[in-house]
Amino acid sequence: MADLHLGIDFGGSAIKAGLVDVSQGHVLGEGLSVPTPDPSTPAAVVEVVRGIDARLHGAARVGFAMPSVVKQGTARTAANIDPSWIGTNATELLATALGRPAVTLNDADAAGLAEMRFGAARGVAGTVVVLTFGTGIGSAPFIDGQLLPNTEFGHLELRGGSAELWASARVRSELELGWAEWGARVTEYLAQLEKLFWPDLFVFCGGISAQFDEFAGYLHTRAPVRPAALGPMAGVIGAALAAAA
Ligand code: BGC
Repeated sequence: MADLHLGIDFGGSAIKAGLVDVSQGHVLGEGLSVPTPDPSTPAAVVEVVRGIDARLHGAARVGFAMPSVVKQGTARTAANIDPSWIGTNATELLATALGRPAVTLNDADAAGLAEMRFGAARGVAGTVVVLTFGTGIGSAPFIDGQLLPNTEFGHLELRGGSAELWASARVRSELELGWAEWGARVTEYLAQLEKLFWPDLFVFCGGISAQFDEFAGYLHTRAPVRPAALGPMAGVIGAALAAAA
């Protein structure tokens, strides 16, 4: 019998979820994606999650990924979600609402866990930095497969502000940057990370990684850069892996 856990990836525009077979690292069926309620308060999101849970039966535990620094189950920051999450113990909230054990973690950490275990970084030793490029930039560094959680490399200072205001996928579309121009910005950002951490591998996640071939030629780094292998459900898979751990 498969080891099934419910993975949920809560983001500013969508809440993705799926029943995950954590021994294989894949979502059963297609998974779900529902629009994030507006405002995305804890109460509103819990209602959506209850609905999801009712549609996807059979999970032993629940893993909840969110765009926040998460300490002992409590969100300490809130990026592109309602600020009332700050100080909310998401783990307690979900465990109570769903009546089963829950685990909460940062969304990039979740995607990183999945890519490390089953995706682009599977079996890679040394220092691997997984980055998610979307509305912001999320980060998940691993040393010999071990995650250092809650890093916020997207907020490294670059060009007088947060790096994610210079090189995220949102900035590319808002400023209508071509691949060469955006690639140069990402290269500048990755150079900062290389200076500080000397990674052996970067993994490039986020919706834009589907177009990796378009911009890979504009990334100039010492370490290799691989595109994510698990696609948009990486966060869901990683959340379930965290719940199973
Ligand atoms: C947040 C991170 C999050 C990333 C991706 C950043 O703005 O600070 O916590 O992982 O966006 O959602």
